[in-house]
Amino acid sequence: HVLIVDFGSQVTQLIARRLRELGVYCEIHPFNKVDRDLLQAFNPKAVILSGGPASVYWDDAPMADQAVFDFGVPVLGICYGQQVMMHQLGGRVEGGTSREFGRAFIEKVVDDPFLSGLLENGEHEQVWMSHGDHVAEMAPGFGVIAKSPGAPYAIIADPERRFYGTQFHPEVVHTTNGRQLLRNFIHGVAGLKGDWTMAAYRAEAIDKIRAQVGDGKVICGLSGGVDSSVAAVLIHEAIGDQLTCVYVDHGLMRLNESEEVVGLFRDHYNIPLVHVDASDLFLGELAGVSDPEQKRKTIGRLFIDVFEAEAKKIGGADYLAQGTLYPDVIESVSPTGGPSHTIKSHHNVGGLPERMNMKLVEPLRDLFKDEVRVLGRELGLPEAFVGRHPFPGPGLAIRIPGEITREKADTLRKADAIYIEEIKAAGLYDEIWQAFSVLLPVNTVGVMGDVRTYEAVLALRAVTSTDGMTADYYPYDHAFLGRVATRIINEVKGVNRVVYDVTSKPPGTIEWE
Ligand code: XMP
Repeated sequence: HVLIVDFGSQVTQLIARRLRELGVYCEIHPFNKVDRDLLQAFNPKAVILSGGPASVYWDDAPMADQAVFDFGVPVLGICYGQQVMMHQLGGRVEGGTSREFGRAFIEKVVDDPFLSGLLENGEHEQVWMSHGDHVAEMAPGFGVIAKSPGAPYAIIADPERRFYGTQFHPEVVHTTNGRQLLRNFIHGVAGLKGDWTMAAYRAEAIDKIRAQVGDGKVICGLSGGVDSSVAAVLIHEAIGDQLTCVYVDHGLMRLNESEEVVGLFRDHYNIPLVHVDASDLFLGELAGVSDPEQKRKTIGRLFIDVFEAEAKKIGGADYLAQGTLYPDVIESVSPTGGPSHTIKSHHNVGGLPERMNMKLVEPLRDLFKDEVRVLGRELGLPEAFVGRHPFPGPGLAIRIPGEITREKADTLRKADAIYIEEIKAAGLYDEIWQAFSVLLPVNTVGVMGDVRTYEAVLALRAVTSTDGMTADYYPYDHAFLGRVATRIINEVKGVNRVVYDVTSKPPGTIEWE
């Protein structure tokens, strides 16, 4: 067990993720909940102090309970965590005139098990800094083991007590060998084995769901996507038919998607499922709406209305289950409570539970997409379902810029099915994070069999990504794109031109709206 003490960094959850990758069980607890009792109950074999937005010399700066340092286990302080450790153990932290953000290069000062396999023979390692303050004077017992030109205390250590501090973030991908540092801390310094698996996560999640829900009733909105499906199957495994699923079909799903979802849940898993065909309602209200945020809001509002009505019919549900993932949480709220920018208002987080006075069950809240897929396989979901590309809650509505009609949705569905079929035939589906088509509100002139055509343009999109937060376009070979374009134009009435989107995120987003 590893205890992560959270001081509010945007990337605390990444520490947990890295530890799971190392096969180690961990829990994140807010700094003000960690005291001697919690330590004794949880009995961690190591503690990690996260980064955070505060400065240790502020009046109410968050601190670690002294018990953390007296518990006798290795402690790793990251960024603000390092400063907390210095401040509380007798060192000094200063506000920076030189704030440091982004890449820096560290080199070894002395050998230490924490640096095992790294920084050999004067090598430099790229690390990712993000801080305003820095350690000015080390606490007694500590020495520098690695430094950078701008950070003389880049990594400090008290090997005797097995306390370590890094000024940078080893958990982010931009710290090239951050995984190795964490591995050294976990396996080398703390001596943890790493035999924890997703099977164990499943068992723990099931216990937690049972403890939370008791004999209450839960309803779960299925979207057809991986996240809500995995959440539903997990919850069903935990509480059986105390769970009812509701699938609201807004008429903007992909080809055959509704049949597949209903078939899987009703027939394969035998999970109680209500299938609501609300396509008339959604398409009716969306008529004439072309503003992207307006579309999202309309769909979000109608979804809540329909879902609420169904929930009332089912009656007596106390809990609402959602397949919220960690990136949804950080993109939707600012963990520090400060202002954060709404880039797009995702509709799968918030709104509904308050209005319906229901409590939330969110068993995937700590996980990233690829981890949800592993969990889905663990739960026996078919590969075709688990490996599916993400699909946004508002569905095809945000892939039809301008006004939405049923006819346009049908055209897009047909074209997109051909595109995806070709991707699968070429063996590329699993290399791509997300691929889809966008039906543009632009007609262009073409010529087919000596006849002039004047039809819509279809844009193809495919991106690689690890979490959807940044992305790059997929470099298809030209022959592939040509093949897809030919098939779509030949087989889909209403499209006479196909283009490929080569924008990365940022500056673009993955979806067009
Ligand atoms: P963007 O377009 O913001 O998309 O780069 C990032 C990821 O989120 C998905 N997405 C959504 N998912 N509701 C959702 O459930 C939404 O409103 C929404 N908008 C975008 C998108 O498909 C991509 O995977």
